[in-house]
Amino acid sequence: MPRKHTNPFRYGKLVQNKDFCARPELPILREYLRSGQNIVLYGERRIGKTSLVTEAVRGMRGFKPLLIDIYEVQSVHSLSQRIASALVKALDQKLLQKFLRTISALRPTLTLNTEGMPVVGIDAQAVTMPSGLEPLLDYLCTSFSAPNTVIIFDEFQSLLNLPDSREVQAILRSKVQQQRGPFVFLGSIQHEMRLMFTAQDSPFRDSALPMEIGYLPRDKFQPYLANKFADTGYKVDEAVWDDIFSITGGQPNETQKLCSALWMAQLDTHEVTPDNLSDGFELIFAMQRPQFERDWGMLTDYQQRVLRTIAHRGGEHVTSAGFLEASGVTHAPTVRRAIDRLHALEIVIDRGGQQVFSDPFFRLWLMEKGY
Ligand SMILES: Nc1ncnc2c1ncn2[C@@H]1O[C@H](COP(=O)(O)OP(=O)(O)OP(=O)(O)O)[C@@H](O)[C@H]1O
Ligand SMILES: [Mg+2]
Repeated sequence: MPRKHTNPFRYGKLVQNKDFCARPELPILREYLRSGQNIVLYGERRIGKTSLVTEAVRGMRGFKPLLIDIYEVQSVHSLSQRIASALVKALDQKLLQKFLRTISALRPTLTLNTEGMPVVGIDAQAVTMPSGLEPLLDYLCTSFSAPNTVIIFDEFQSLLNLPDSREVQAILRSKVQQQRGPFVFLGSIQHEMRLMFTAQDSPFRDSALPMEIGYLPRDKFQPYLANKFADTGYKVDEAVWDDIFSITGGQPNETQKLCSALWMAQLDTHEVTPDNLSDGFELIFAMQRPQFERDWGMLTDYQQRVLRTIAHRGGEHVTSAGFLEASGVTHAPTVRRAIDRLHALEIVIDRGGQQVFSDPFFRLWLMEKGY
């Protein structure tokens, strides 16, 4: 009986090991981490930041990562909870007891989850002010930090949500200076991240070396994807690759999502050709239609016109006479305001001065469905 394969494409989560397509930033990042350099990694959403750092550390003999995801933390207590939880997962029994003693001022409790793994709880009353974080950060940056331990703060810009953000940043910065090993700061809201590391009066100014992460080079990404099709017994017509890359623009997550849908849509034929590409699009539309309809319905008439024009004409020179004419919006400031709202909703992003859809399939859907 032929071996049954599972869908080899991954999206929406971090990719590692054989699922990680080599990218040029990898060896550079490893060199910096080996030398103990702190790094701030900038990059669009879903471009591969978390995967890159995790894979970098995974391939460094004797090194280990500690990943602290602080996405949308809203209080110093929830921040302390995220840091403590990450540490508890990384510590063995003996170190765990020592850790709990060190942070006893935070009245930690330890329970076991359904899988028998320890879960730590920090008393909310013990961490109401930024200074309450000190015992935890002391442990993180001195006892835990080591030359071969890479401490990764993911979605670091979320610190800005905290009511006492500045004070928290100042305390964290002073503790990070006592570190023994490298820290990596990741963030997907690039503008806010940049300000945290560059603004004149920001505690984190110049505290880490900036690195920019781009799309995967097509000469690496396409063969990686083609191999995944081939390894699972699929034949792919060479002619489809230009279509795939022109639709997704090479965005790593979206390109994997499209390949995943193409794979699913041809379970019977195991062949992807220019003629059946649209089966894959339809699968994605079926998954995402409720979201597309909701997003479209949220927009005013002007915002819809501007978005439609970006879809059909491209997002360059959006205040030019040509764009205004094509969109039927008379005033450039009205287009600007519409773009601001499309940015706020993260439907459109600014990529080097050009306005592009953050989700290329939303664009395709608008065009195919005749909006
Ligand atoms: N090196 C890579 N090889 C193959 N696919 C990748 C690679 N990097 C990113 N991807 C694709 O992008 C997706 C998102 O990757 P990842 O979660 O690392 O990005 P991120 O920038 O951290 O995203 P977020 O903004 O959500 O935090 C992956 O699931 C995968 O589909
Ligand atoms: Mg991430």
